[in-house]
Amino acid sequence: MQEINNSPSDDVLIKLQDIYKIYHMGDSEVHALDGISLDIRRGEFVAIVGQSGSGKSTCMNIIGCLDVPTSGTYHLNGVDVSTMKDDEQAEIRNKMLGFIFQQYNLIPKLNLCENVELPLLYAGLSPAERQQRAMASLARVGLEDKAQNLPSQLSGGQQQRVSIARALAGNPPVILADEPTGALDSHTGREVLSFLQKLHKDGNTIVLITHDNSIARQAQRIVRLADGKIIYDGAADRPEAVVQPDEFSAMPITPAEEVQAG
Ligand SMILES: Nc1ncnc2c1ncn2[C@@H]1O[C@H](COP(=O)(O)OP(=O)(O)O)[C@@H](O)[C@H]1O
Ligand SMILES: [Mg+2]
Repeated sequence: MQEINNSPSDDVLIKLQDIYKIYHMGDSEVHALDGISLDIRRGEFVAIVGQSGSGKSTCMNIIGCLDVPTSGTYHLNGVDVSTMKDDEQAEIRNKMLGFIFQQYNLIPKLNLCENVELPLLYAGLSPAERQQRAMASLARVGLEDKAQNLPSQLSGGQQQRVSIARALAGNPPVILADEPTGALDSHTGREVLSFLQKLHKDGNTIVLITHDNSIARQAQRIVRLADGKIIYDGAADRPEAVVQPDEFSAMPITPAEEVQAG
């Protein structure tokens, strides 16, 4: 057998190895993540999908350095972040990751430019440089003319674009989006998705968390979770990518073939 994967390992930005996250609830244990191993390469667009409770947010929190696993290792850009302390995590998070959340998480009292500047505060830039970068980021999402407005003066779709601008401001290699279209109508949601696709074409690595198969299919690769385990990892356009676990038995059996994502 020929080895298919001969990409250099330094192309792997996100490397999860045998990750467990166990919550203790009284006497019982909840295995939110139950032995997850996952490699995401630079420039990939990956959707992590699964039903409610399958472990998506837990996975996102670990990938995003917002939480640490109970066991297993996580290397981000070659650095072991699974055992880091909070302040070390904060630093690498700031440098490596841009976040887009369902509820935008904009600060109501700050204008759009100031909101977008937030991830730049610790980058050691002068105020003028920060403002210039924030304005450039707002321009990328077409909102530079609203820089002095407050978030409340914008529509939901516009607020999500501001949160995308904020995610991009520090030019992080990885964009993590947790249900980014969950609070938007379908038209605006499609706009946000096509923007994520554009970012992917520009070379960004995108990890999109969603419970919605039709949204997941916009990615290149789907990782499907059920009960804290990966039950599918491969191309987004295969029928198996969007099958619910309880539908597996009803699926026609097709010969297994290697799926190469990316
Ligand atoms: N802080 C917590 N304490 C206890 N159980 C939790 C906690 N966070 C998540 N869980 C449990 O872990 C499982 C996975 O949750 P989560 O990652 O939020 O799933 P999803 O985002 O796919 O809905 C669920 O059973 C959930 O109830
Ligand atoms: Mg969740």
